[in-house]
Amino acid sequence: NSELVQRLEETIENIPDFPKPGIQFKDITPIFLDPKLYEEVIADLANFSRGKVDAVCGIESRGYLFGIAIAVALEVPFILIRKKGKLPPPFVSEKYDLEYGSAEIEMRIGQLKPGQRVLVHDDLLATGGTTEAAAKLVEKQGAKVAQFSFLIGLKDLLGEQKLAQFKVPVHSILEY
Ligand code: PRP
Ligand code: MG
Repeated sequence: NSELVQRLEETIENIPDFPKPGIQFKDITPIFLDPKLYEEVIADLANFSRGKVDAVCGIESRGYLFGIAIAVALEVPFILIRKKGKLPPPFVSEKYDLEYGSAEIEMRIGQLKPGQRVLVHDDLLATGGTTEAAAKLVEKQGAKVAQFSFLIGLKDLLGEQKLAQFKVPVHSILEY
């Protein structure tokens, strides 16, 4: 969908050297100023997953911005993956590496059902560490990672290679 790609490229703001020198920050917030464009993004992401998943998992916080709308469009449950310390028990946890140090994400036990085919969605695929940890949370509950989707994939950071172990389709609307 090259017209959508072009409009997104015009809308997403590139901010050099934020939050650190050398990082090109992609600011997606202007998309939410344009409801028609937002609807087209959701339609694209929902089309990728329609008929192929039984649930959507989105990763706090920017993974919620599109993830819930995808789930509603597909009429399937949405399950929140949260950063450590926000969810009441029982939950499963997974640690992952950041550029400096590590982080941890969590998901309630019982919301995802064993055997469900799951879309793992986030706004951005960079190194893939966050998404890989999310996929492990899905598998820890006996559900099956069926797909990954992102608004943006950063090719140089090799996130797709990290997700190759799951052997499922990966869709990014935009690639930089
Ligand atoms: C950003 C982005 C992805 C993740 C990608 O989230 O929204 O979730 O980093 O990085 P990776 O592929 O290298 O793991 P961030 O942790 O900054 O938090 P936010 O979504 O709450 O803004
Ligand atoms: Mg995030």
